[in-house]
Amino acid sequence: MKRDLISMLDVKEDLLDIINLGIDLKKKSKNGKDTSLLSGKTLGMIFEKSSTRTRVSFEVGMEKLGGHALFLSKNDIQLGRGETIEDTALVLSRYVDLIMYRAMSNKAMKELATNATIPVISGLDDIEHPCQVITDLMTIKEHKGELKGLNFVYLGDGKNNMANSYLLGCAMVGMNVKIVSPKKYWPDEFFVDEAKKFGVTIEVSDTVETATDGVDVVATDTWVSMGDEEQKQQRLKDFKDYTVNKDLMSKAKSDAIFMHCLPAYYDYEVTKEVAHGPQSVIFDEAENRMWAQMAIMVTLDKSI
Ligand code: CP
Ligand code: NVA
Repeated sequence: MKRDLISMLDVKEDLLDIINLGIDLKKKSKNGKDTSLLSGKTLGMIFEKSSTRTRVSFEVGMEKLGGHALFLSKNDIQLGRGETIEDTALVLSRYVDLIMYRAMSNKAMKELATNATIPVISGLDDIEHPCQVITDLMTIKEHKGELKGLNFVYLGDGKNNMANSYLLGCAMVGMNVKIVSPKKYWPDEFFVDEAKKFGVTIEVSDTVETATDGVDVVATDTWVSMGDEEQKQQRLKDFKDYTVNKDLMSKAKSDAIFMHCLPAYYDYEVTKEVAHGPQSVIFDEAENRMWAQMAIMVTLDKSI
């Protein structure tokens, strides 16, 4: 049966295998070994929102696997003129082997996946960003060796796609997760409850001062996600005390790392001093999008 990747819960069984395959493909490729595991295959990439990393990392990653990627901007295909998601899914399934979709809504994502007869990989929607969190876990593994038992804190918008996927993904690999956010932006119960099922400690708080005390990983994301632009002024006010700065980083473990999926907005969610400082791994994350997604594509392609 074909497999999709829309939520972190879709990789509950083999998350660590995917992370290890990503690390392996990275090593092989850097050592000049053959990585053409998807030779002759085609990935269709539908974008309803802007992207730098997702677009480039999927396209170059597919090339490294010996395949080919097609960039399909919503406005350039008939989907943008009212063709249904169902028909788009059925038609693309006749041409390509895998679909990557960056969608405005999780509802549209699910509709595409339900109707496509080939695997659909989320390149982000309003609810989750699984490719980024798989990548981030691969990056943490590279820097820390082990994932189990690490303490992870995320500051900022606790209701956005990154917060939701971090809650699930970090819990799935045995990390303790703290979300520090103004009450109004606390995660929906569903994600907290699902994360707790993995037997780790999950904490949601609005206390910034002690947020980073003794943690291994500090993460944040933009305060204004794509689709939230109308609330920008309100959000800048609501989050103004949640900036990750040098002071907050100094309370984390001395070998703690700083993460951000990018794009970053300096002096809002993080200072440039931290984002470009010695503890930051943000550009490793950007690079690892490619290796992790290669592992994801190889894994899902096997399902058909
Ligand atoms: N992190 C991430 O998904 O970046 P893009 O929006 O540039 O794809
Ligand atoms: N939360 C951000 C992630 C961008 C990669 C957004 O949805 O805009």
